[in-house]
Amino acid sequence: MDKLKIDISNALNFVSSENVTKLQNQTGAHLDALYNKTGKGNDFLGWVNLPSSISSEHINDVKQTAEALKSKVDYVVVIGIGGSYLGARAVIDALSNSFDYLQTNRKNPVILYAGQNIGEDYTAELLDLLKDKSFGIVVISKSGTTTEPAIAFRLLKELLEKNVGKETAKELIVAVTDAKKGALRTLADKEGYKTYVIPDSVGGRYSVLTPVGLLPIALAGIDITELVKGALDMEKLVAQERENSIAATYSAIRNELYNNGKAIEIMVNYQPKLHFVAEWWKQLYGESEGKDGKGIFPAAVDFSTDLHSMGQWIQDGVRNIFETVISVAKPNETVKVPTDSENLDGLNYLAGKGIDEVNKMAELGTQIAHVDGGVPNIKIELPKLNAYYLGGLLYFFEIACGISGYTLDVNPFDQPGVEAYKKNMFALLEKPGYEEETKEIKKRL
Ligand code: PA5
Repeated sequence: MDKLKIDISNALNFVSSENVTKLQNQTGAHLDALYNKTGKGNDFLGWVNLPSSISSEHINDVKQTAEALKSKVDYVVVIGIGGSYLGARAVIDALSNSFDYLQTNRKNPVILYAGQNIGEDYTAELLDLLKDKSFGIVVISKSGTTTEPAIAFRLLKELLEKNVGKETAKELIVAVTDAKKGALRTLADKEGYKTYVIPDSVGGRYSVLTPVGLLPIALAGIDITELVKGALDMEKLVAQERENSIAATYSAIRNELYNNGKAIEIMVNYQPKLHFVAEWWKQLYGESEGKDGKGIFPAAVDFSTDLHSMGQWIQDGVRNIFETVISVAKPNETVKVPTDSENLDGLNYLAGKGIDEVNKMAELGTQIAHVDGGVPNIKIELPKLNAYYLGGLLYFFEIACGISGYTLDVNPFDQPGVEAYKKNMFALLEKPGYEEETKEIKKRL
């Protein structure tokens, strides 16, 4: 079977290839630290062997829960933020029809999202949409105390109970949270919701292959068995190939680029469906590496769309960037440019070509232009956009992130910096328990 590939030939000109090889050779030690749990953040390594430890019973149970909910509702609101949101959205958007939400005669419910922001208008519009709709809720929070999803859940639960009554609402709510701790666990147990546990050892941004991701993805009608199989095959491949794996290559080249002043990595896609894969990747790498005054800043663009907005900067701005392109070798569908007898738009030179051929030339032309302009280019190629290869891509990025974080000598599995805004927000909102912080912050206003 075709595999994910990496091509770093357009990045090597910018660095010393001996240094890349040196970093690559350290990968074995970093992988051992991940596998044997001897490195930094070793309490949070449950994701490393997650694909090989997921049982088919567990997958079937998640599928059954999804099927049961699907049979009862037209909409499912997935409530969560950060690692409790982005993985599901990445896979669902990548593998669903782009106009899925407009389709009639659906086999799967429309998936909507809440709790990933605190926009009052967004929330009001969502509540208005759902006031006369049949909907279910999957509420996801590892801590069970995150403010954004907690507010969304309170509102949506209230609406659902108003629509269908408290007893029926219980059948339409699934909670994914900690086994014991947190307000969501207390609430779910008291109300008797169906629940799934997020393992202690799996942090939010590494949790896409737990029910955090798998349940919403199954609800969208995507084959989670294939997704996990793709991840499992990647887990095995990296364990087998170690220093020669694509994860080792990716980690080594991006660290060596960083050592040479390339402080920003731009994740590029040429398929709009991959927009949220890049958002997921941004959280994975940003939260894992941005600490101790270090870390590559993860950015993302959708090409060719953003070539018409960000292209100038990338071609000609500060030379502290490199690009990583996720390229899909073959499209799933075929659309050819038609011949036009009048050729008033002058496009007959493209007649008979697939749209993807044009896209690939945009990709190649951009790569050559950007490399000429001083932007190193890494290419990661997926044979096709399907659940299997996407599962492989997700695990590849996760394991490469662990290796990369250890190469950078940070703890890639904590996120202490995320607390600072929360402390200030709670102080400003006068949350009980934050009286001192409230006094202090008010002096600054
Ligand atoms: O990766 C992380 O740890 C964070 O992005 C969390 O996933 C996010 O803050 C949501 O947290 P929780 O699942 O506890 O609600």
